[in-house]
Amino acid sequence: MTVRSAVRWAATHGAMRLAIKAQVRRGNPDAEVLSDPAVREDPYGHYERLRTGAPFAGGAFARVSVHHDVCTDVLRSDDFGVIGGDRADTLPAVLRTALRLAGPRPSIGPIDPPSMLAVDPPEHTRYRRLVSRAFTARAVAHLRERTGQIAAELLDELERDAAGGQPVDLVARYASLLPVTVISEMLGVPVAMREQFLAWGDGATPSLDIGLSWSTYRSVERNLAELDSWFHGHLRRLRREPGEDLLSQLAGLADDDGSGLTERELVATAALVFGAGFETTVNLIGNGTALLFANPDQRRLLADDPSLWPNAVDEMLRVESPVQRTGRRVRRDTTVHGVQLREGDLVLLGLAGANRDPEVFADPHRFDVTRANARDHVAFSSGIHFCLGAALARMEGEVALRALFERFPDLSPAGAGTRRSTIILRGYESLPVTLGRPVAGERPAVPAGPAATSP
Ligand code: HEM
Repeated sequence: MTVRSAVRWAATHGAMRLAIKAQVRRGNPDAEVLSDPAVREDPYGHYERLRTGAPFAGGAFARVSVHHDVCTDVLRSDDFGVIGGDRADTLPAVLRTALRLAGPRPSIGPIDPPSMLAVDPPEHTRYRRLVSRAFTARAVAHLRERTGQIAAELLDELERDAAGGQPVDLVARYASLLPVTVISEMLGVPVAMREQFLAWGDGATPSLDIGLSWSTYRSVERNLAELDSWFHGHLRRLRREPGEDLLSQLAGLADDDGSGLTERELVATAALVFGAGFETTVNLIGNGTALLFANPDQRRLLADDPSLWPNAVDEMLRVESPVQRTGRRVRRDTTVHGVQLREGDLVLLGLAGANRDPEVFADPHRFDVTRANARDHVAFSSGIHFCLGAALARMEGEVALRALFERFPDLSPAGAGTRRSTIILRGYESLPVTLGRPVAGERPAVPAGPAATSP
C-alpha cells in the first residue's frame, strides 16, 4: 500500500513540485504563488502580474486567467469540463503509466470522481439534482433561526473561555464550530463528533492542492481513508434505521441497479457536501473578521446600519475569496477571446484575481461594504458547478459575523493571526482575539431577514 501511495505521489505531486520549482527559477508569478507560503500571505500583487497577460497568462502548468469575463465565459461554456481525477493530464507518458499501475486511491477525495465537483453531465446533473432541494434559498431561510441559536450558544462558551480578559482563538472556538454544527444537523451526522470531523477535514483539505510534500500527501490519504470508512459505516446504519435527515433520504435511494446512487456515489456525495459545508465557511468568517479589524470605518458603517450586512458578506467574499482558484479542461477544440484551445488543454481560473478585476470593480482593492456590485464576484464560481451551498454560506456568514460584532462591539485582535498553508483555500488557521465587554442587558436578536438567494 505504501509503495502504491509513493508511486502515486511521485507521479503526480512529486513531479509537479519539480515543475513548479523550474518555473519559479524563471520568475513565473503563478509558480511563486503555488510554491511559497510567504507569497500566499498576500498574493494580490502576483495576481496583478498575471493580469498583464490577456486573455490568459502563462501559469506554472497551463494557461491561467484572472480576468472576470474570461473566467465567467469558460465556467459557463460546455466546451469545458472538469479536470477530475489525479490531474495526470499534465504529466509525461512515463508518469501517466506509473500512475495507472499504482491504481486509484482507495478512498475518494472531494475532487476525485464520482464527487460532483469532478464529473461532467450527465452524471453531474444526476448527483446535483438529488441534493439541491436541501440547499435552495427557501430551505436555507428556515435554518436562519437555528443558526442564530447556535451562534449565541457558541458565543456564550467563548465568553466563558475569555473570562478575565483572556485572549481566545476565534477560529477554533467559533468560526470553525458554527458551520460544522449547522451542516452536521442538516445532514444528520452526530454533532458530538464535530471536533473529530474538523480534524479529519483539516487533514484532508490539502487534497485540493497541487505539489504536496510526501508527508502532507500521506496525511491526506490517512485522513480521507478514516473519513471514508466512517461514512460507509454511518450510511449502513442509516439504511437500517433511517431518520428525517438528508443523508437518510439519500441512503434510501441507494441501490446498485442504477435507479439510485451506488455505495461509492453515495459516499462521495455525502462526504463532499459535508466537507464543503464546513471547510469553506470557516474561512469566510475568519477572513471577514480580519477585514473588519483592518477597516474600522467599514465596521462603524455596519454598526450604524445593520441592513448592510448581506452586502458586506459579499464584499468579504470578493476581497478575500475563500476559494482562490479552480480549473477546467477543454472538451472540444474551441476559441476563447481570440485564443485557440485544443481538446485536452487545461485552463486555470483565478477566481480571487477575477474578483479584483478593475474592468468590473472600481477601486478593486478597496474593501467597501456599500459597493453596489459586490455580488458580481465569482467567489462561488459560475455555470453548472456554481456552489451548491452559496445561500447557506451567505446566511451563515451574515448570522455569525453580525452576532459576533453586535455582542462584542470592542472585539479586537490579540496578536497576528496565522494563515492556513493551503493553496486553493484561503483563510486563517488561528485568529487570537480579546472580546472586550459584551453589550449589557438583552442579547441582540437573531438577525432577521430573508436568506441571500443565489444568482
Ligand atoms: C464561503 C463559503 C463557500 C465558498 C467560497 C464556496 C465556493 C465554492 C466554489 C468556488 C465552488 C465551485 C468550484 C468549481 O467551479 O470548480 C463550489 C462548489 C460546491 N460547493 Fe461551495 N463554497 C462555500 C460553501 C459551501 C457550503 C456551505 C456548502 C454546503 C453544502 C458547499 C457545497 C458545495 C458543493 C456540493 C459544490 C459542488 C457543486 C457542483 O459541482 O455542482 N459550499 N463552492
